Amino acid sequence: MTPLLLDGKVAAAALLDFLKPLVETLDPKLVVIQVGDDPASSSYIKQKVKSCEKVSMRSEHIHMPSDTTIETLMQKIDELNNDEDVTGFFVQLPLPGQLSGHEPEIIKAISPMKDVDGFGAYNLGKMFLSKEFEHLPPATPSGIIRLLEHFDIEIEGKHAVVVGRSNTVGKPVAVMLLNRNATVTICHSRTKNLSEITKQADILIAAVGKPKMITADMVKEGAVVVDVGIHRTDDGLCGDVDYEGLQSKVSAISPVPGGVGPMTVSSLLRNCVTAKERQMELR
Ligand SMILES: NC(=O)c1ccc[n+]([C@@H]2O[C@H](COP(=O)([O-])OP(=O)(O)OC[C@H]3O[C@@H](n4cnc5c(N)ncnc54)[C@H](OP(=O)(O)O)[C@@H]3O)[C@@H](O)[C@H]2O)c1
Repeated sequence: MTPLLLDGKVAAAALLDFLKPLVETLDPKLVVIQVGDDPASSSYIKQKVKSCEKVSMRSEHIHMPSDTTIETLMQKIDELNNDEDVTGFFVQLPLPGQLSGHEPEIIKAISPMKDVDGFGAYNLGKMFLSKEFEHLPPATPSGIIRLLEHFDIEIEGKHAVVVGRSNTVGKPVAVMLLNRNATVTICHSRTKNLSEITKQADILIAAVGKPKMITADMVKEGAVVVDVGIHRTDDGLCGDVDYEGLQSKVSAISPVPGGVGPMTVSSLLRNCVTAKERQMELR
């Protein structure tokens, strides 16, 4: 049987439709800082700006040269923190060489009220309390949950296995699944007998960063698979999952491209709207 396609373009369009009237009323503004000219970053920023245009959200792309110093970048962050017209902003990662070691202090410098990427300790910490405290959750984990919810995939009581434990994807999505009453197992590079664990998953989230690493022999018959990975290869884009190989085995699967990617972008915009709602409450 053909598995259900967890189509991120469809689910993201539904979320953008929901956001449009809110944007009209609240008039939030999203700012993205890019340092240098990483082509993948430029392409992600283009998609984010395009999605802003779809919902008529104001956006600004601040492009700084690749030799920008940490002092200059911190000064820009300070300016944006104090600019009342800016609802939310983020620094597109990865950063060029001289700044890459500074990522933790850069993330820390962004006001928690404007941290629409949800990477800061305040917003991550709140998620640990309960679902109700997921104020500005990181965009990719939030997008994964919305993708499952859009296609009515039940989470409660299911065994969810997350492969990957990064602070931006693996760990927060595991917490969000737990907040929705899944039983969660997190795997990583030191996990022994990985396939024995992935084969137990009702819901498998692949956030490994290795092209097509999750193969058919690693999944249970009827599992729901969400592929977070994105890789540019000579044959085009692919994910962390062997998409073709899994077709005859799984009940639902997200494609790459067109799966988690559009959900990440629309969830970022959702966070910008939420941030504006909170800022107005506090004023
Ligand atoms: N579509 C989107 O919007 C979107 C957004 C963000 C990321 N991504 C993609 O998602 C993927 C993951 O991103 P990330 O930022 O979480 O990557 P990351 O920071 O590199 O983390 C990768 C994780 O996978 C684990 N891992 C690596 N090799 C493994 C193996 N052989 N077996 C089991 N676990 C293994 C690592 O374990 P250790 O912790 O032990 O090293 C780590 O926890 C990447 O392809 C990235 O490009 C897509």
